[in-house]
Amino acid sequence: SDPNLVERARAARAALGSRAFVLGHHYQRDEVIDFADVTGDSFKLAREAAARPEAEFILFCGVHFMAESADILTSDQQQVVLPDLAAGCSMADMAAIGQVEEAWAVLQDVGIADSTIPVTYMNSSAAIKAFTGRHDGTVCTSSNAEVALRWAFDQVGGVDGTGKVLFLPDQHLGRNTAVLALGMSLEECVVFDPRKPNGGLTDQELRDARMILWRGHCSVHGRFSVQNVTDIRAAVPGVNVMVHPECKNEVVTAADYVGSTEYIIKQLEAAEPGSSWAIGTELNLVRRVAKAHPDKNVHYLDSTVCFCSTMNRIDLPHLVWAMESLVEGRMVNRIVVDADDAHWARVALDQMLALPG
Ligand code: 13P
Ligand code: SF4
Repeated sequence: SDPNLVERARAARAALGSRAFVLGHHYQRDEVIDFADVTGDSFKLAREAAARPEAEFILFCGVHFMAESADILTSDQQQVVLPDLAAGCSMADMAAIGQVEEAWAVLQDVGIADSTIPVTYMNSSAAIKAFTGRHDGTVCTSSNAEVALRWAFDQVGGVDGTGKVLFLPDQHLGRNTAVLALGMSLEECVVFDPRKPNGGLTDQELRDARMILWRGHCSVHGRFSVQNVTDIRAAVPGVNVMVHPECKNEVVTAADYVGSTEYIIKQLEAAEPGSSWAIGTELNLVRRVAKAHPDKNVHYLDSTVCFCSTMNRIDLPHLVWAMESLVEGRMVNRIVVDADDAHWARVALDQMLALPG
């Protein structure tokens, strides 16, 4: 590796000045976060990108779907750059647009499409967000999933009515929000498996469901288990267990706190000195909050769970390469969403930004 990398990063950043704005998701490496103009969860970063009309280049240190959302929310003159194109998201990849359209056709055949509204997690391709906009739904993130679901049910007769939500692509966030925040039962949530005919469900099961959850999950958060919670409680008396809502329902139920990355950071800031915390989310973030709060005992919920490998694709060499290329007038790794998808995805994103709170 180049011993002058940090120097080169500083020089390239200075040369770009206010022409560039660097966004860093909380799961990014420290070496990248050091060069971020702003850090945040996916919701905050989408807002920040939209609020920088003066920046010619938005350097997005995060994953592909976040860069797509930034492209959708910024003007045509602004260019969004993802320093490594291999930084995808395995969850977003679990819902392909063709599969989602086929699923919608199933709901039409069963006669429930008119009473179903799509709610799509930010962690999805622009094409899926566009599908959501075309069907009058909304995007949500882990920090506003409850508000988004309440809004969606209101469009189809209310939480206590008979309307349905098709929740894409994270079954866990959808189930956790419906059950823990809206008080639905687990039985009212069904999982639609796109690899099976009729999603692996009978027509009656589809008709009876309130939440039709796409069969997607996060490979990082999906690994935390109830055993991890039991073990840490035995090892650290009085520990507060805090997890991301992408964890399985039984893990979230066993935990004491659940929330987005931004929520986790705020809880830690507000915590009593000397208190103990076990955190179930991506490791870069947990390490950073542990370092920021030496007066609190911060543990990782499962020491064997690793980083988000695709988030970690963005490292300092890639960021330096992207910045130096821009300084030299060479556009690299630009993320562009096609105009029609961008229009409809924006409708669904604007709906999210217009939600209360
Ligand atoms: P946040 O919405 O909390 O930023 O989470 C994004 C993500 O990718 C979680 O795995
Ligand atoms: Fe996707 Fe999970 Fe990585 Fe988040 S942590 S980017 S949901 S794979």
